Amino acid sequence: MAAIAAGVRDINPGPELSIIVPTYNERDNVGELVRRLSECLGVLRWEVVFVDDDSKDGTADISREIGRADVRVRCLQRIGRRGLASACVEGMLATTAPMLAVMDADLQHDETLLASMFALLKDEPEVDIVVGSRYIAGGSIGDWDRSRAGISRFATRLSRLVVPADLTDPMSGFFMLRRSTLDLSVRGLSAIGFKILADIFASAPRTLVFKELPYRFAQRQHGESKLDSVVAWDYGMLVMDKLIGHVIPVRFVGFAIVGGMGVAVHFFVLAVLFNVLHAEFVLSQAVATLLAMTFNFSLNNVLTYRDIRLRGWRWLRGWLTFVAVCGLGAFANVGVASYLYKANNGWIPSAIAGIMIGVVWNYVASTTFTWGRSKR
Ligand code: GDD
Ligand code: MN
Repeated sequence: MAAIAAGVRDINPGPELSIIVPTYNERDNVGELVRRLSECLGVLRWEVVFVDDDSKDGTADISREIGRADVRVRCLQRIGRRGLASACVEGMLATTAPMLAVMDADLQHDETLLASMFALLKDEPEVDIVVGSRYIAGGSIGDWDRSRAGISRFATRLSRLVVPADLTDPMSGFFMLRRSTLDLSVRGLSAIGFKILADIFASAPRTLVFKELPYRFAQRQHGESKLDSVVAWDYGMLVMDKLIGHVIPVRFVGFAIVGGMGVAVHFFVLAVLFNVLHAEFVLSQAVATLLAMTFNFSLNNVLTYRDIRLRGWRWLRGWLTFVAVCGLGAFANVGVASYLYKANNGWIPSAIAGIMIGVVWNYVASTTFTWGRSKR
């Protein structure tokens, strides 16, 4: 390898290939994965970077322990953060290797494919990225039930909105790319949720040249899948970010959707208390308001701000600040709406303006005071 920077010589060259592995509670899988990688990658100069989101089961400690015995094993630990896609991005940015692979820790991806992916990229300079596909001849989704297979197909169809290339498996979490390919997309990545591959394609300024290699999606041996219904929400947000993110932040869209649901909760509680139980209006309205705020706070915490979700005491403090913020928001809402109404505007536009001011204030202020990173 030629030395690029002046005065730098090939003393102890870094890896040619870095395998980025996001982990969350994968204690029983990392050792076996490293063993399998050493077995199948042979003389290639490789490393593996485990990007761990502070797993409770000690995954980070175990990977560091392996790294003390094997210099090819590294660990990047993130605190107070969650997210498969952002973990992959940060892992890729934390290595010097010119070739980057992304794969899961749970042994569901076929590691023996890595050598062919690498060879393909070496041999064919026009190819930007090699993708492991479950949907071409020779590949398979393994033992997925019909509903999960159906959801995956639907998600793949939805990705056509933002992924220009005719990829058979844009949902794949197993692929290898050149650093120069990453460089094309890296500043445009949304890094929301699980679907980093679709993101890379959708964020590239030109259609990426890709090749697909088939693999069989194996069964998970240890630990649990982290894929849940919130992953679907995150995916919706990713697609939306690609479509309208340059105009409006999708976190705000999520916040506003949750706000809309909160209004429904408010009216439901109000109707039950006031109409059915015949409580006093003021009391009914107060209880409905508090419940709707609590509902909004909880839902925002698991959806809108899932990557920086508050737990334990932080949850309680977050709830308090959220109620305070929304209280002020309601005050501003009513103030603006009545001012506009008095200035001879119709009641509907006045109300909408008030609500807009309230929502924007709630969003901006709770992003800072409730889920603000500065307090961590
Ligand atoms: N750092 C980090 N943070 N890692 C995470 C997180 C997170 O919040 N959530 C999941 N992971 C890690 C898991 O530890 C595992 O190594 C990998 O990401 C995949 O998670 P699974 O929970 O096993 O997902 P899956 O098997 O249902 O789906 C995977 O494979 C599909 C097919 O390739 C994902 O990669 C999907 O995106 C992919 O479509
Ligand atoms: Mn898995």
